[in-house]
Amino acid sequence: MVIKSLLGLLVVVFTLFLTSQAGVVSYRKTQCAGTVHKAFNPACCKWFRVLDDLQTNVLHSTCGDASHSALRIVFHDAIGFSKTKKFGDGADGSIIMFGETELEFAANNGIDEIAGDLKRVADTHGKSYGDIIQFAGAVGVANCAGAPRLKFLAGRPNATRPASEGTVPEAFQSVDTILARMHDAGFSPDELVALLASHTMAAADKVDITIPGTPFDSTPDSFDSQFFIETRLKGVAFPGKGHKRGEVASPLVGEMRLQSDFALARDHRTACTWQSFIKNQTLMNQCFSYAMEKLSVLGQNTKHLLDCSEVIPHPESLKTIPHLPAGKTMADVEQACAATPFPKLPTAIGPATIVKPVESCDGDGN
Ligand code: HEM
Ligand SMILES: *[C@@H]1O[C@H](CO)[C@@H](O)[C@H](O)[C@H]1NC(C)=O
Ligand SMILES: *[C@@H]1O[C@H](CO)[C@@H](O)[C@H](O)[C@H]1NC(C)=O
Repeated sequence: MVIKSLLGLLVVVFTLFLTSQAGVVSYRKTQCAGTVHKAFNPACCKWFRVLDDLQTNVLHSTCGDASHSALRIVFHDAIGFSKTKKFGDGADGSIIMFGETELEFAANNGIDEIAGDLKRVADTHGKSYGDIIQFAGAVGVANCAGAPRLKFLAGRPNATRPASEGTVPEAFQSVDTILARMHDAGFSPDELVALLASHTMAAADKVDITIPGTPFDSTPDSFDSQFFIETRLKGVAFPGKGHKRGEVASPLVGEMRLQSDFALARDHRTACTWQSFIKNQTLMNQCFSYAMEKLSVLGQNTKHLLDCSEVIPHPESLKTIPHLPAGKTMADVEQACAATPFPKLPTAIGPATIVKPVESCDGDGN
């Protein structure tokens, strides 16, 4: 009994010692001046001010175009990293710092708007561009119902050089080329599939500029598994008449299907993981979070970063279940994973689904 409580005391003392070593005051929250927020770690208070500015002026606290773009720029900044070549420094904000170079790359078409918005917020609050990108990405994801609450680490130094052209995968590239590029950046095929959960809160403005805001799934305003379902509806592998480079026909009216997503959904190296997320949101979110954590610190020394994850808002939970869009049945699904059949799903009730475009000025009332 005495020994037990002594041990308990030791554990408590040791924990206190550890937390004070890390400079973290973890029992009581401190009111962050000038905001309605409280933080466990006062050093994270500054990020609550950035949060308010971002949500009010850029992301509009909605899972719309700006939150989507904030996630896309996370990928395009961080993936400029290579294990083998002497270029690029990963999640370092180089896409903003050296925007005049990187934003000219074809693969970064359309990133300029969010890059400009985030630059302004970073400059206002004295934050590095690497940090603002990762922060806005995590907040943008949190604006989407069903999403995981991603980690946020602060303290990336500013980039010192631009990334090279060719590091960002493109929709017209083969699965071999895409997997090789991801491998060179340190990501397995499974991790790429997990990262591609991002395309559930996504639309294309630049693939076909005549139809801006065309979504990759029927629910671009939520972080559900519909993207993994709808990419497996039957279709053809090659662009048809009227389709742009990197795009193939989607069987849903109003939906955009990238050639790379079509191929990755069916390739033997990726199809089973793709399908495993459909009926397991927990698994999808865990794998996405893990892969995003890796992406967010590519090329960074995490020992020099401070965990301010407490600043990231809590996402709302999903109100829908995984389903086939109205008008589609299990007969419209393509089998691709040899080991496991495609999961059985109910069909949404109603007339054949027509996917609506994502408005480009969400939150502005137009
Ligand atoms: C195989 C790799 C990938 C390819 C080929 C690819 C390609 C694309 C393309 C062509 C677009 C449309 C851009 C436009 O026309 O406006 C897009 C949008 C998007 N991508 Fe990817 N992507 C890939 C991986 C990723 C990853 C790993 C992430 C995040 C972790 C991501 C996040 C997004 C988001 C959020 C959008 C929507 C942007 C918006 O709606 O404004 N993508 N992607
Ligand atoms: C990053 O660079 C910008 C622009 O030069 C500068 O205003 C900012 O102070 C720098 N931030 C850090 C953390 O070095
Ligand atoms: C869903 O994935 C989790 C792992 O994140 C696992 O523990 C659980 O068993 C899975 N659920 C089902 C129904 O397969």
